[in-house]
Amino acid sequence: MTGVLPNVIDQLTGLNVIYLPNNSISGVIPPEVSKLPILNALIISNNQLSGQILLLPTSIIILDISMNRLSGNLPLSFRAPNLQILILSSNNTMGEVPDSICESQNMQFLDLSNNLFEGELPRCASMKGMLFLLLSNNSFSGMFRSWIQSFSSLVVLDLSWNMLRGTIPRWIENLSSLRFLQLSHNMFSGDIPVNITDLVLSIVMKHNVLRYGPLGIVSMVGIDLSLNNLTGEIPEEITSLDRLSNLNLSRNHLSGNIPKNIRSIKLMESLDLSRNDLYGEIPSSLSDLTYLSSLDLSYNNLTGKITSGPQLDTLYSGNPSIYDGNSGLCGPPLRKNAETI
Ligand SMILES: *[C@@H]1O[C@H](CO)[C@@H](O)[C@H](O)[C@H]1NC(C)=O
Ligand SMILES: *[C@@H]1O[C@H](CO)[C@@H](O)[C@H](O)[C@H]1NC(C)=O
Ligand SMILES: *[C@@H]1O[C@H](CO)[C@@H](O)[C@H](O)[C@H]1NC(C)=O
Repeated sequence: MTGVLPNVIDQLTGLNVIYLPNNSISGVIPPEVSKLPILNALIISNNQLSGQILLLPTSIIILDISMNRLSGNLPLSFRAPNLQILILSSNNTMGEVPDSICESQNMQFLDLSNNLFEGELPRCASMKGMLFLLLSNNSFSGMFRSWIQSFSSLVVLDLSWNMLRGTIPRWIENLSSLRFLQLSHNMFSGDIPVNITDLVLSIVMKHNVLRYGPLGIVSMVGIDLSLNNLTGEIPEEITSLDRLSNLNLSRNHLSGNIPKNIRSIKLMESLDLSRNDLYGEIPSSLSDLTYLSSLDLSYNNLTGKITSGPQLDTLYSGNPSIYDGNSGLCGPPLRKNAETI
């Protein structure tokens, strides 16, 4: 469908749902939409809507206007106390996110990713039922907000590709439903909190929200802290996260050894520790990770003989650069053997 939304839309006072995703609708969201008395769902994602996001009907529960060309700032007063799902991702909306976006105590899914938002993260302390908080790829700055610790049901936290700084807070352990922690490409510094390993990384999720979940994300259990300024060692306790399938700590300044007991993370599929200052030998238990399908240990200061095993040998033949930039590694499958170092 092409064309614009009619501005006499408010005459349809019985309208409950507007569902027009994946069309070529252009123009603005007519302000008359806010007068629809019982509109619960406005879903016009993946169209060509432009202009600013104005007032919403107070009855709105689901708003998905992602993948359009909406621009400008968000309204200061959001006036949507019943929102459960708010998806504004992939537009050009900008400026600070008003705290009023968080006035709904029922919010479960908030996705503001891929926009031009800046300033500190909004203060969203009252949204205790939040399951998905997706704020990646904006220009948010400042520190981790402590109100996030009150989201005891949070399943996915994605703050990647922003300009957040400070340490990763210890209270992260209290997010006991967290399944995917994505903090990559920020300026976080300090150590990886040891108690990050108290995360249960399991899953309890409500169905309507799952439908909205970015499927690639919910099907994995992962921690991505890559591209920050983290220092210190990888806590040995991380090996107690036995449901972890993806761990990316690449491009930090981590030092110390690779945790010896890495085999305990039995379900590990992808392990990227590249571009840090790790030293010592590659633990032999790495070869016990039978689900491992992606490995990168390049550009560290690892030494000694390479651990071998069917899984690791296959990974190496698929990608011979996984041990690059560790001048002290030797033995097959590298051509270099111990005598030549
Ligand atoms: C986690 O929550 C418990 C109980 O509310 C609290 O006592 C503890 O201090 C919290 N942990 C951190 C690191 O904040
Ligand atoms: C780990 O993160 C880096 C930087 O964000 C990225 O380039 C790399 O592809 C990631 N590794 C994997 C295995 O996804
Ligand atoms: C690499 O390790 C060797 C031997 O442990 C040490 O002498 C050297 O200083 C380390 N280099 C870096 C860049 O950390």
